[in-house]
Amino acid sequence: MKILVIHGPNLNLLGTREPSVYGRVSLAEIDAQLLSRAGQRGIRLNCVQSNHEGVLVDTIQAAASQQVDGVLINAGAYTHTSIALRDALLATALPFVEVHLSNTHGREPFRHRSLLADRAIGVVCGFGGLSYQLGLEGLVTALERQADERNGIRTVD
Ligand code: DQA
Repeated sequence: MKILVIHGPNLNLLGTREPSVYGRVSLAEIDAQLLSRAGQRGIRLNCVQSNHEGVLVDTIQAAASQQVDGVLINAGAYTHTSIALRDALLATALPFVEVHLSNTHGREPFRHRSLLADRAIGVVCGFGGLSYQLGLEGLVTALERQADERNGIRTVD
């Protein structure tokens, strides 16, 4: 299985950025934890961060031709604004899980709306760096179930 992790704008500053909101964990530490977990499960994982909306769109488009099975995405502020990211995810039909470190629903009203969430397999928010781990677990489990269903194997919750 091949998973793409996408981090949007300002997430490169994790560790020093508003630690009371986002904690003290750095992006490199989050990526290392994800790579370690993926390695244990035999999953190939690639992590990309960009502050640029177009680069994120290009990354999603490229993933579709690179046999990526699913996307774990924290689109940062673009979550609340980017029709382009939504369109890229829908155009490629890549299954995705949305994650946020903070609980966006307990923050400013403009963060309550996500332009991605209704098309995500699921959304995890509010657990700091752990949101990514939980999101990866959910994404991988959902993809495995989809594969089982395609192969006629019935799974039980
Ligand atoms: C965030 C929440 C967004 O509202 C914000 O713009 C971010 C980070 C989070 O992980 O909590 O950049 O996606």
